[in-house]
Amino acid sequence: MSRTALVTGGTRGIGKATALALKEAGYRVATNHVGSAEASDAFTKETGIPAWRWSVADYDACVAGVRAVEAALGPVDVLVNNAGITRDAMFHKMSPEDWREVVDTNLSGVFNMSHVLWPAMRERGFGRIINISSINGQKGQAGQANYSAAKAGVLGLTKALAQEGARMGVTVNAICPGYIETQMVMEVPEAVREKIIAQIPIGRLGEVQEIARSVLFLASDEAGFITGSTLSVNGGQYLA
Ligand code: CAA
Repeated sequence: MSRTALVTGGTRGIGKATALALKEAGYRVATNHVGSAEASDAFTKETGIPAWRWSVADYDACVAGVRAVEAALGPVDVLVNNAGITRDAMFHKMSPEDWREVVDTNLSGVFNMSHVLWPAMRERGFGRIINISSINGQKGQAGQANYSAAKAGVLGLTKALAQEGARMGVTVNAICPGYIETQMVMEVPEAVREKIIAQIPIGRLGEVQEIARSVLFLASDEAGFITGSTLSVNGGQYLA
């Protein structure tokens, strides 16, 4: 049976690796992002995976975007809430705008996408929602009050939704990646990054495929008894 998966923020980094892994495993895959039309085209040309452009922070855009995806690929069975941004600054330098943008995308974006897809997943008696949170939602990170708060919020949302979805065949889980080799992490000042790597017992950054494989497992039938859980994939950096 072929299922349809939608990966938000799916054209780069962890999202791209996840979209490719799902495709490889036989899913029909759609991605979403907020980049340019050229970036969409280049991604689709390279991977064969369609990409739709809308902001997960905008509820009405999520409604329209999901409608377009479902018209093209059929009902969405697996939602990977991966879209996320950073606006790092020490708290005394963080603007209300820095706070709002991160919470709107990283937390409300998860609400928006899940809320749009939830009724149909309940009705069909099957759904998988996999939320990409972060190690920094678990432990907090100086310079990331906005991001840490939003990612911790995602963990609370995951646990509440898991309880609501359980009897309807809808599982909801979170993955907390540690520091993974992505553009987001490579933008952290090098000196800061070196200090971070020194705190990772495995001694290296994670690879995007290591998160993609975790998503694949949580999306599978074999993971049907797992819901409301948080899977830490962080090289031992933080043991929650
Ligand atoms: N704990 C406490 N104080 C700290 C600190 C820390 N970890 N890091 C910096 N400070 C202090 C500094 O000592 C300095 O204090 P003084 O002014 O008294 O000397 C002050 O904060 C400002 O530090 P910076 O000079 O670094 O200030 P900046 O404004 O240039 O940069 C920053 C601040 C943008 C937050 C920068 O430190 C930074 O980028 N830190 C990394 C944050 C981080 O880990 N982000 C993760 C991004 S990857 C990701 O988010 C993916 C994921 O899920 C893991």
